[in-house]
Amino acid sequence: MTHLPTHHIRQMSIADYEGVIGMMRSTPGVSFRDADSRDSTERYLLRNPGLSFVAVASDALVGCVMSGHDGRRGYLQHLMVLPSHRNQGIASSLVESCLGSLESLGILKSHIDVFQTNTLAQHYWEGRGWKLRTDIRRYSFVRSGGDSA
Ligand SMILES: CC(C)(COP(=O)(O)OP(=O)(O)OC[C@H]1O[C@@H](n2cnc3c(N)ncnc32)[C@H](O)[C@@H]1OP(=O)(O)O)[C@@H](O)C(=O)NCCC(=O)NCCS
Repeated sequence: MTHLPTHHIRQMSIADYEGVIGMMRSTPGVSFRDADSRDSTERYLLRNPGLSFVAVASDALVGCVMSGHDGRRGYLQHLMVLPSHRNQGIASSLVESCLGSLESLGILKSHIDVFQTNTLAQHYWEGRGWKLRTDIRRYSFVRSGGDSA
């Protein structure tokens, strides 16, 4: 018996915004910020074309990841897969789509921020060879009017 793929990965476009935000709102471990407004997301996708992806099963979004780069390093964010579709390798396909596309642009090293409380994600990244940085503290500064997250 042949096994047909239950999902496929395609590039994310701004038309996916509502679906992605819906997933973010219902997924513990992922936070929704001002930076996730429709305008900000569209600007991000325009600045980083072809570097964000969604997973689709039965015409519905079941996962996503966004990535970009600053010319030197890649940055991944918003990796999530619906609970009903986890443990099938969807996240790994999404991440590989980002890393492969970043590599084609000459970006070989990428970072991701993970909440201290998100032990599921920490297990996921550490199981795939991502190194926890203990030598760096990330500092953020918010100009008046920006959000604090
Ligand atoms: C972290 C997260 C994205 C992983 O998604 P996922 O699609 O389940 O990930 P994968 O399927 O690629 O891998 C998960 C596990 O399934 C296993 N797996 C992969 N393919 C499999 C298959 N065909 N059959 C059985 N198991 C499989 C993997 O080995 C992995 O196991 P391990 O972590 O114990 O080594 C998902 O749990 C999630 O959305 N979490 C909430 C949001 C979040 O925290 N995001 C990260 C923010 S930094």
